[in-house]
Amino acid sequence: MSATSTALRQLPADLNRDALPKHVAVIMDGNGRWAQKRKLPRIMGHHRGADTLHDLVLCCKDWGIESLTVYAFSTENWRRPEKEVNFLMLLIEQMLRREMRFMEEEEVRLRVVGNVAALPKALRKEVEESMERTAHFKSLNFNVATNYGGRQEIVQACQAIATQVQAGQLAPGEITEQHFEQVLYTAGATDPDLLIRTSGEMRVSNFLLWQLAYSEFYVTDTLWPDFDREEFHKALVAYQDRDRRYGKVTGSAI
Ligand code: IPE
Ligand code: IPE
Ligand code: MG
Repeated sequence: MSATSTALRQLPADLNRDALPKHVAVIMDGNGRWAQKRKLPRIMGHHRGADTLHDLVLCCKDWGIESLTVYAFSTENWRRPEKEVNFLMLLIEQMLRREMRFMEEEEVRLRVVGNVAALPKALRKEVEESMERTAHFKSLNFNVATNYGGRQEIVQACQAIATQVQAGQLAPGEITEQHFEQVLYTAGATDPDLLIRTSGEMRVSNFLLWQLAYSEFYVTDTLWPDFDREEFHKALVAYQDRDRRYGKVTGSAI
């Protein structure tokens, strides 16, 4: 590791530890464009993107972020060419296997959120094993949204609640936001404070529709494979300048 990167492992001086987001969510977009710019196949962008993610996980741990949730594969991404879909499934599977030692060393708790049951069998097995082996770790909650869609998550939550109602465990009028949160894929997690989207697109693409209700959005033109610690630093500086009002008014203005 170079001298610069050693320095970067410390929290930058202009960031206030107490004002950091506890939970950061990321739409890792722009892998294809990164590759196209270099006349490389799109999958090379995904490959590079996986390295970027490894660095971000370590950075979050170094800088004291409690939770990181990344969008790896959406329910809409099945519409891509079969070759690309197969590559992505294999890449996620390989990453989980390859990064296991790293997660154990860094005490990272991994959770895959999404419709895991519909993933290829080999990937499902890797998901189950990784989640089991890291379940007791506390240094960073690392959630990987895979075959995840916000609308699908809400529909399956409704189904889970309807089943409770049908079994007589709950009356319809007793359903609260808390009940609902308990049956989302993200049950037990706090809502993201900050959502980062790389590569400039100003949309949410079906990510964490319920959980992003009051998150701060940060969009950068930087493509995901180029999103390094410096870029993350910029996003955190921008976040610290935000005034999170939650519908209230600040100051004493009438
Ligand atoms: C994000 O990069 C990775 C996934 C959606 C899996 P893209 O593959 O969407 O890259 P662009 O948007 O085409 O550049
Ligand atoms: C969102 O990116 C999904 C992931 C990053 C996994 P997309 O590239 O699929 O989003 P759209 O199609 O541009 O909205
Ligand atoms: Mg994209």
